[in-house]
Amino acid sequence: MPRPPVLISQRGHASENQKVLSLTFRHFAVSQTIPMAIPSSTKQFAVVTGASSGIGLELAKQFAQHDFDVLIAADGDGINAAARELEALGAKVESVQVDLASHDGVHKLQSAIQSSGRPVDAIALNAGIGVSGPFAETDLSQELQMVNLNVVSTLHLAKYIVKDMVARHAGRILFTASIAGTMPTPYEAVYGATKAFVRSLSQSLREELKDSGVSVTALMPGATETNFFHRAGADDTKLGASEKDDPAEVAKEGYEALMAGKDHVVAGSFKNKLQAAAGYALPDPLVLCI
Ligand SMILES: NC(=O)c1ccc[n+]([C@@H]2O[C@H](COP(=O)([O-])OP(=O)(O)OC[C@H]3O[C@@H](n4cnc5c(N)ncnc54)[C@H](OP(=O)(O)O)[C@@H]3O)[C@@H](O)[C@H]2O)c1
Repeated sequence: MPRPPVLISQRGHASENQKVLSLTFRHFAVSQTIPMAIPSSTKQFAVVTGASSGIGLELAKQFAQHDFDVLIAADGDGINAAARELEALGAKVESVQVDLASHDGVHKLQSAIQSSGRPVDAIALNAGIGVSGPFAETDLSQELQMVNLNVVSTLHLAKYIVKDMVARHAGRILFTASIAGTMPTPYEAVYGATKAFVRSLSQSLREELKDSGVSVTALMPGATETNFFHRAGADDTKLGASEKDDPAEVAKEGYEALMAGKDHVVAGSFKNKLQAAAGYALPDPLVLCI
């Protein structure tokens, strides 16, 4: 019968905030070093999806500027440049290049979070894309890709992180929804529906988790100056060509609302606040007139 491995040495020292660097086991005559989690710093730890550009990059900067270390994720290699930008702000940064529209990508991000060995103090579930055009003509595969990213990956990651945070009785979750989730969005019909899902999920989780130590906040931007419209094929639409909010300001409002434990924030211009309020109060055709 093989003998169980015996711990023969331990490198690094474990305090409350630091993890063991490596454990060396002797199994018969063979010694094996098993890598463990990297030593954690005393800083808080935040995860941001869709952090290579736009609102997500600005959210990650907010965390870095407020003394968080960050784990950031996006699909393209722009995530590496984003990591360098955040490191320059003094944060310890880990970047993960993953396609979150796939289950595999979501699992890889979960593994990266687990491998960090650090409890997640805050997470911004922000990655999202749009698809623009008349519903009868837009490409179904692009819309399914958008649903997989905006809805399925958000749900998947929320399920994972909520379980972990509830078990620890601590944590903050920021969902990037949109004022588009409060009203009809003709020519962005599926996009608006994905954001209504995110907003609804956020509101319901906030209520469910109110006594759990976990706070949930929805960030509701209006049109913001990012890659979003270009990527959605909406540069030449009325909204795409209109004046937009600054993503840095939108992210600042989102971060502050998250830290204040607010249920949501309609970020950006007064027009956004008016439209969101109208979305709750007015009949749909009137909301579209604002
Ligand atoms: N801009 C607006 O007017 C506006 C208004 C309301 C809400 N929002 C929401 O704000 C969020 C951020 O968008 P943004 O405006 O900042 O646009 P953005 O600059 O295009 O940023 C989108 C981010 O999502 C990432 N992403 C896209 N597809 C991905 C995938 N398959 N897997 C992993 N990451 C992926 C992008 O990374 P890569 O570039 O590497 O793919 C990028 O980091 C979205 O949820 C959007 O719905 C935007």
